Amino acid sequence: MSKTKTTFFCQNCGAQSGKWVGKCPSCNEWNTYVEEIVHKETKNDRLQIFNVNKKGISNKSILLHEVGTANYPRIAVPGKELTRVLGGGIVPGSLVLFGGEPGIGKSTLMLQLALRLKNLKILYVSGEESEQQIKMRADRIGITTGSLFILQETNTQNIFQQINEIQPQLLIIDSIQTLHTAYIDSSPGSVSQVRECAAELLRFAKESNTPVFMIGHITKEGSLAGPKVLEHMVDTVLQFEGDRNHIYRLLRATKNRFGSTNEMGIYEMQGQGLREVTNPSEILITNRDAPTSGVAIASTLEGNRPMLIETQALVSTAAYGTPQRSSTGFDLRRLSMLLAVLEKRCGFKLGIKDVFINIAGGIRVEDPGIDLALVCAVLSSNEDLPIPQNICFSAEIGLTGEIRPVSKIEQRISEAEKLGFEKIIVSSYNLKGINIKNFKIEIVPAGKIEEVFSLIFG
Ligand code: TYD
Ligand code: MG
Repeated sequence: MSKTKTTFFCQNCGAQSGKWVGKCPSCNEWNTYVEEIVHKETKNDRLQIFNVNKKGISNKSILLHEVGTANYPRIAVPGKELTRVLGGGIVPGSLVLFGGEPGIGKSTLMLQLALRLKNLKILYVSGEESEQQIKMRADRIGITTGSLFILQETNTQNIFQQINEIQPQLLIIDSIQTLHTAYIDSSPGSVSQVRECAAELLRFAKESNTPVFMIGHITKEGSLAGPKVLEHMVDTVLQFEGDRNHIYRLLRATKNRFGSTNEMGIYEMQGQGLREVTNPSEILITNRDAPTSGVAIASTLEGNRPMLIETQALVSTAAYGTPQRSSTGFDLRRLSMLLAVLEKRCGFKLGIKDVFINIAGGIRVEDPGIDLALVCAVLSSNEDLPIPQNICFSAEIGLTGEIRPVSKIEQRISEAEKLGFEKIIVSSYNLKGINIKNFKIEIVPAGKIEEVFSLIFG
């Protein structure tokens, strides 16, 4: 009998300590250390886990230009959104962590992927739902396939046994927090279990060159549950986000060894599963009969995709002593900065006003090109003057109140033109190098935030 060994793990960041500590020295969180039983494996144990085809491995050093990748082309994924976020299909042997809050649609998206990849043998391992529940979900999505295997199992050793039998070409794990390995005695979902199970899956992925998707839950703070080490281990981290009360879901890559992390995919949750949204601009802008104050349209860019987004602001006199600032879909600190710029440069007394900001559709925007639209929405609400519906904006705002240029301005202008806008206000620095004559839309340059007010309202 081996001796029981215990170690303390920080449940937030995965740091280890021999004794209990109140404050984690690594992530500075309080009361996150939990004792977990660690059972030391013997070396021989581990070698028998999987004996799948090992053609992908090589232990000798090899010249870089001699490494062949031609035998392992990316697996084409049905659907443009996922393809774009993954950087162009699934890389063989890659380990992808797919995170999101409960109920956001992770299982649905993965099952949909599995059902649509008809010519691949896929194993979908679920530790959360029974086979019947998965079948019911598949029926709801309405696609049938003959090559998808379902396994309800949480023990990794049993999973690898099934893998040896089926030899799947793609493995989906729903979810990593439900798995447990016999080599560690702590309970499923604990840091050491999650880490160990992920390590086993990583070895399987690399040695058999099979891509693996692991679903992972997100903690209430918004980070992937389990230790940060999971993020270091995997090749790609995908995040599925969005407001559960909204129908739109955003798919982002927060880490991607095989592609850009700027790309975003948009889905809409419907009765029959998730539908891709290929024309986001048309959905995110509300068509109003009459212009309303406090609304401005921004031409933003997510990755390489231009997108028009409606920003809304409500400015009202503070009812209580301290004015409130609230923001949905936009960074609150950046909002404070923009309000301070407005106050200093334009003389608007916003310090005594409540300011509420909302980005339509429950979308979170990181592109700084939205700044100008947001500021104009605030001004419009403050003055109760509607912005004409044919104007949109695309520029960043600097601390001195200058209107700063944004990247890929031509794409943003084209998108605005495509959607029928007649005027776009951009930074005057952005006009260098672009040919205004190529566009039918009127391009209005602005240099300072002070000028914008008269450009819109005359
Ligand atoms: P689910 O994929 O189970 O979420 P997760 O795995 O991230 O916890 O999806 C849960 C929600 O999606 C659930 O509230 C019901 C809804 N849903 C639909 O609206 N339409 C559908 O076709 C499906 C399958 C689910
Ligand atoms: Mg689920």
